Amino acid sequence: MSTRIPLPYSPKVLELFRNPKNAGPMEDATVSATAGSPACGDVITIYLKIDEERETIIKASFESYGCAANIAAASILTEMIKGKTIREAWMITWKEISDELGGLPAIKYHCSILAVGALKRAIRAYYRKKGVRPDWLPEKLTREELQAIEEEKLIEKLYGRYSIEGDGRSGKDRS
Ligand code: FES
Repeated sequence: MSTRIPLPYSPKVLELFRNPKNAGPMEDATVSATAGSPACGDVITIYLKIDEERETIIKASFESYGCAANIAAASILTEMIKGKTIREAWMITWKEISDELGGLPAIKYHCSILAVGALKRAIRAYYRKKGVRPDWLPEKLTREELQAIEEEKLIEKLYGRYSIEGDGRSGKDRS
């Protein structure tokens, strides 16, 4: 008999884990970016299809090799950003995602942080590709981006196989 104690996931997390929305890669994505570590499996990629004239996200999807909380966070994030301007999507915090999910156990906060970290990287990658930085996009990394990097460094220490890029952006993006 298993001695593992199940985590107190909300019904919403369990529902989205079982039936995630917007799961899978996007063939015609404008941009995509990854946060996390392939070394331990906690890795997420966010794909965005952007209406470049209106600066609006018209489609979003994700691939996650993380836990139930990560899959649920990515699923709800991709729902939340659909139809939003890039700027509005940028403002979404990991805490808002957690709240939308009915709360996450404290040890699962990082799963939501990784989802937001991947989104922010995708947005930065989009503007990097265009060679512009809008006024509202901070030059410095946000708290959530830094936390995602901390996660990656920790994983690197534990597994020693993941290389962190030296430009403060770590992880991968495929812009
Ligand atoms: Fe690492 Fe959830 S993504 S435990």
